[in-house]
This record gives sequence, C-alpha cells and structure tokens, in this order.
Amino acid sequence: MSRSLDALFRPRSIAVIGASRHPGKIGYTILKNIIDYGYRGRVYPVNPKATEILGLKAYPSVLDIPGPVDMAVVAVPAPIVQKVAEEAGKKGVKVLVVITSGFAETGNVEAEKRLVETARRYGMRILGPNIFGVAYTPIRLNATFGPGNLREGNIAFITQSGALGIALMGWTVMEELGLSAVVSMGNMADIDVVEVSEYLADDPHTRVITIYLEGLKPGTGRRFIEAMRRVTAKKPVIVIKAGRSRRGAAAAASHTGSLAGSDNVYSAAFKQTGILRAYTVEEMFDWARAFASQPLPRGENTIIITNGGGVGVLATDAAEEHGVKLLTPSKELRDKLSQTMPWFGSPRNPVDLTGQAVEENYEKALTVAFESGEVDNIILLYCRTAILDPVSLAETIVEVAGRYEDSGKPLLVSMIGGEDVYRAMNLLNRHSIPAYPSPERAVAALSAMLRYRSYREKIAGRAATS
Ligand code: ACO
Repeated sequence: MSRSLDALFRPRSIAVIGASRHPGKIGYTILKNIIDYGYRGRVYPVNPKATEILGLKAYPSVLDIPGPVDMAVVAVPAPIVQKVAEEAGKKGVKVLVVITSGFAETGNVEAEKRLVETARRYGMRILGPNIFGVAYTPIRLNATFGPGNLREGNIAFITQSGALGIALMGWTVMEELGLSAVVSMGNMADIDVVEVSEYLADDPHTRVITIYLEGLKPGTGRRFIEAMRRVTAKKPVIVIKAGRSRRGAAAAASHTGSLAGSDNVYSAAFKQTGILRAYTVEEMFDWARAFASQPLPRGENTIIITNGGGVGVLATDAAEEHGVKLLTPSKELRDKLSQTMPWFGSPRNPVDLTGQAVEENYEKALTVAFESGEVDNIILLYCRTAILDPVSLAETIVEVAGRYEDSGKPLLVSMIGGEDVYRAMNLLNRHSIPAYPSPERAVAALSAMLRYRSYREKIAGRAATS
C-alpha cells in the first residue's frame, strides 16, 4: 500500500488551526467532530486568543505544540492561511487540510500557487483548499464540519462538491450506508482524486470507491486513465460526472476552478478504465450498496423470486433493458421450486410465490435458489400483503442468507409498501443485504455488478494472453 497519504488517513496527531471558541463556527465544529467521533490520537487546538477549547489546551501557534503533528486542519480566513502554512511547514506537519475558501475558485490563483510552493518547500502535502475536510471511519477520524455521526462501512466517498458532500454524509446515515472514508477534494491544489483513489484501492477497509467529479485539472487526463485502470483492477469505482451540459460545465468551472471538459471525452475515459458511470446520486449509492455487501457475480444467470406478478414483470423488463440475463430453469429446478409455492404459483422465472406467500415459502424458495448450481444471482421481491409482515420476512431473509454466506451468490432485495416495509429494508441493509424500494433499482444495481464482472474478466483475459 502506498504510504504517501498515511498522514491524511491515519494521522497520529492533529492540530486544528483556527479552532474557534464559538459554537456554530466552522473551526469549532471540526474540533468537536474530531473529539466526539472518538479519534484516539492527540488533538491540539490552535488559536492565539484562547487558552482552552472544548476541554483541550489551546496553543497560540502550531509551533508552540510540544509533540509532533501529522495533520493540521486549517480553518482561518484566507489572508492568514499563508502564514499558518509557513508555520506548519516549520513544525514538520505532514499534511495540511485547508478548509478555507477564497483561492483559485474565486480567481485568487496566485495565493493558491504560493500555498502549494510553501508546502512543497517543506515536503508537506495539501488537501484542498475550499473543502469540508476528511473522514476515515476505521480510526474514528471525522475532521469535517459535516455531520458528526458517520456510519462505519466499506464505501469510500470522494467528492469535489462540498455542500453536496456534507448533505450526502447525513443522507448515508439515514440510508444505512456504511462509509470507510469521505474526502472533500475542493480545488485539488495538490492531492487530487487520482491519488486518493489509488490510496483507497489498497485500503483494506474500502470495497468500493464512489466519486462525485466535476472535472480534472488540465493536462492530467492521461495520468487519470493510467491510474484508474490500476484502481479498477482492484476495486469497483463508480463516478458521477457533473457538468454534462454546457451551462453545468460553466457552473463547475466557477465552483472548484476545474475544467469540466467535453462529456464525450470523460465517457470514453470511463469506458477505457472500467469506471462505472452513474447518472444520479441515488444510482451511485444503490450500486455501491450492492458492491459493498455482496460477492461479485461468478456468472450471469439470474433468478427473480416474487410474491407479486406485477413487480415480477417490472423486474423482468428492467432486466432486459439492463442486459441482466434471466435464467431459464431446468425441469429439475422447476420441480423443486414448485414445492415452495401454492399450486397456482409459477416456478418459471420470475418465480411467483403468489400473494398468498408467507415466510416459509420465501425461506424454501430462497434455499432452493442458493442450493441450485443453475443460479448465479438472486433478486428477491416483496409487495406488502396483509398476511406477510415485512419485518418478519426480512428476518427470515437474513437467516437464510447467513446460512449461504459463502455461496458466492449476490442477493439483492426489493420491497414495496408502507412504513413497515421501510423498517424491513433498513433491517436488511443493516445486515448487509442490499434492499431497494423498487425492483428496477435492484436490477440496475445487479447490472452494474455484472458490467464490472465482465470488465474484470476482460482484463484478466488480456493479461493471460499478453
Ligand atoms: N491561528 C489560529 N487561529 C487563529 C489565527 C491564527 N493565526 N488567527 C485567528 N484565529 C482564530 C480566530 O480568532 C477564530 O477563533 P475565535 O472564533 O475563537 O475568535 C478562528 O481562528 C476562526 O477565525 P475567524 O476570523 O472567526 O474566521 P471564520 O470562522 O469566520 O472563517 C473560515 C474562517 C471558515 C475558514 C472561512 O474563512 C471560510 O473559508 N469559510 C468557507 C469554508 C468553506 O465553505 N469551505 C468549503 C467547502 S465546503 C462547502 O461548500 C459547504
């Protein structure tokens, strides 16, 4: 694993330069998040006007801190950043996380250049400027001014948008999505999306990397392609590329000072590198949820199990649209499936357990699907009925899936209904079984997994013949 960004993801000590005494200010929130989320290294507030903040001794300058400092989070106004960066360099700080806005994104290109030059002089790295911070849940690091209570998991989220990133941090908690890392990229004056992705490709706590991308720095396209090929050979990468439209591209340029570039160029680059392109935030996290919890498909044969004919048909349409191959069950498999359902059900694919289905029918059908050598992937659908409580069904699914944890078969669930269905889906997601509120979304997530699988097969084939 590359050690170059260890100070960013595994700092042993952190200084917060501009730690404020006033609740509600950014420098206060960052310090509070670091403390409250349970970071175990040393934390040093730096503020010339304070002696103590949030129960920690404060220092007038980073140079007054007695021990070594790996990371310094900078939350002072732009005109002071250069001075505190110089001091951090002298102190031997390894990485500066510059929250402050007012650099290249506002035309203040010279100040950003000077900041980078200073950092280089001291061998210091910079994340930002113009960011909301960085979080890495395996070491309980939340050096952001986003929500304090991140859910631990194995999805890394890299974002070039600050406000959207913060909003999505909160949203992931509500959606039972577990994160390994959140990295706000901002202006990418030094550390960029590529370097962070390469680091996370080797991170044992990250299974899938999601990126909200507005644009790359000019002249970095070739490096992006070469590096992302290495990353996707190890882990799936899902990207939302914003600024697709002409007006959107102009908005991106004034947002982070980066070039959005032609959308076709990006599409081609994603294709070449095996990056999965999502078009909505919902899609990106839907797919990430599946990658984060399920094994990669070992084959294409997919079975749909449902208690509702209608949703079965919708899922079948979606499968065809997304190129998901539905298995045609053999006579032997049909006979086994017939025994899991009322006589008026259908053992064909979609397997219709009928509206009369209860936990036992699902339990048996799911077991047959896991046991069958014909089935590679399982999509399980449920429509709320008065005779089958969704939470109780979710518990049954968790139990059966637990028995077949080593089957190598992805299981994706969709449940449709009211409030208790929402609770049931949360239960499934908490138990690492991806659950979606519509059959189409479950199918689309499986389709993304299948596309990544065929990319990996393609590159493995290329490697074998070269
Ligand atoms: N060293 C350390 N601390 C200092 C120094 C110094 N040399 N000089 C002043 N301070 C202290 C101040 O006294 C203050 O502490 P206090 O509140 O206890 O008095 C603290 O540092 C902060 O300084 P302020 O002047 O109060 O600055 P303020 O908090 O208003 O703003 C900030 C600083 C947040 C960095 C602001 O300049 C900024 O850039 N805001 C935008 C941040 C942002 O949005 N980032 C981007 C992306 S995310 C997104 O889009 C949502």
